[in-house]
Amino acid sequence: MTIEDPEPREPGAGGQQMARWRNVDRGYAGPELPPRSAPDELDTVRGLTGELTQLMLIYKFGLAEIGTKIDILREELTHRGRGNPIEHVSPRLKTPASIVAKARRIDCPLAFDDLRARIRDIAGIRVVCGFVSDVYRVADMLTRQPDLNLVQTKDYIAEPKANGYRSLHLILEIPVFLSDRVVSVPVEVQLRTVAMDFWASLEHKIYYKYDPDIPERLREELAATAEDAARLDKRMELLHREIHGR
Ligand code: GTP
Ligand code: MG
Repeated sequence: MTIEDPEPREPGAGGQQMARWRNVDRGYAGPELPPRSAPDELDTVRGLTGELTQLMLIYKFGLAEIGTKIDILREELTHRGRGNPIEHVSPRLKTPASIVAKARRIDCPLAFDDLRARIRDIAGIRVVCGFVSDVYRVADMLTRQPDLNLVQTKDYIAEPKANGYRSLHLILEIPVFLSDRVVSVPVEVQLRTVAMDFWASLEHKIYYKYDPDIPERLREELAATAEDAARLDKRMELLHREIHGR
């Protein structure tokens, strides 16, 4: 049917005459508009995502700065033939989901200043050393650097956790130079020996999500394996000293 008549007519009006219809195009307005509050929620999510992305960048930079410092120590000590104390290094950033979860848990606003003060393990780096003396040597070299600020020390080597966990934990603040300002970023540095790392990795695998229902007998066995690892550390250190005289 061709449509020529601009005026619509009542169907059936004028006897047998066929109804004619005007072409109308109202366009497609899209789905019905959501309630007024929805765009605001979307804006909030967009805003938070943007802030979180910027926050993650800052921690990534902080981690890179500490990583470079550790690489420099490693390479320089190797070059000087003083014995490389660092076996391996593993940096990690907390995921945005686990930052948000921890912030919720401790009732902390999602703003850099609040997070910096209250969640200090967003950026973390594990430094695995040969001997216990190396752990303290590297910790000393880092904390003596004037641009690093030591904000917390937890020496779980001097005072192991009840389950036997050993490591030296430092929270170091490092300056990060952005385009328009300098921010001080906290990084958790975990220093441990290869033996401590071996124990912690396997303990995590064996007991992760099992706590706090570990039977006493297994708890004691676990602590005993940590003692074994500590004894190995001592024996290796003594051997090294006798052979190399340091
Ligand atoms: P978080 O809130 O979990 O960071 O604990 P915290 O603030 O009490 O800090 P803590 O120094 O006790 O532990 C920080 C990190 O050290 C953990 O995230 C683990 O990587 C490591 N860690 C501490 N305790 C244990 C342990 O018993 N076993 C293992 N495998 N790792 C541990
Ligand atoms: Mg942690």
